[in-house]
Amino acid sequence: MKALYLYPLWLRIWHWGNALLFLTLVYTGASMHFSGGDWLMPFRLAVRVHNTAGILLTVGWIGFVIGNAMTDNGRHYLIRVHGLINNLIDQISYYAHGIFQNKPHPFHVTAELKFNVLQQLSYLGVMYGLMPFLILSGWSFLFSPYLPETLWDLPSTWVVAMIHLTVAYLLVLFLLVHIYIITTGETLTTNLKAMLTGWHREESLR
Ligand code: HEM
Repeated sequence: MKALYLYPLWLRIWHWGNALLFLTLVYTGASMHFSGGDWLMPFRLAVRVHNTAGILLTVGWIGFVIGNAMTDNGRHYLIRVHGLINNLIDQISYYAHGIFQNKPHPFHVTAELKFNVLQQLSYLGVMYGLMPFLILSGWSFLFSPYLPETLWDLPSTWVVAMIHLTVAYLLVLFLLVHIYIITTGETLTTNLKAMLTGWHREESLR
């Protein structure tokens, strides 16, 4: 069994902290949105926990961006344009049917690149695309008294609420797909163990 150290401690602390905060935000967000159900948190408490978790998530996100800029983890987020379309086709067809026919993985983890092209695009899109929108719309909510009355001729709090809710739903969708995809490594738990210990262990490492 070969091993590569691909998930440094700072990244694991960020990741699991972020996951916990995200689940807290979903639960408290749902508690405010559907206010009143038995399984939900009381509204006023949900507001306080949601705001605190949102602030901590922002701090974590800034840490993630700085960490990626200052360490070599950032290299895994650089898209290789050469062969991009072919890699995408190979990866999509693997997830769509190859995986169900026990075909070999089209992608192999290396020290230079730990993500396949779909993971790379989804992590890039989530961390540098959706998360900034979630965070900015969250902070706009927090400081809503300072927002202009209207944005694009619509009530600005409504615009902010729609952006926040839509991005939150997209991130929940990402999380469901993310949890499925992490089970499709060499074994069911290869990727989970890697994010827990830092070491990616596989028979077929090159
Ligand atoms: C209970 C929830 C979660 C579980 C069990 C989980 C699990 C994992 C695992 C096992 C990995 C390593 C395998 C891989 O790289 O594909 C990973 C990586 C990653 N996850 Fe999650 N995750 C969760 C929540 C989240 C959330 C909420 C986000 C973002 C909003 C997220 C973003 C990421 C990113 C960006 C990486 C790659 C980090 C890097 O290596 O640079 N995860 N996750």
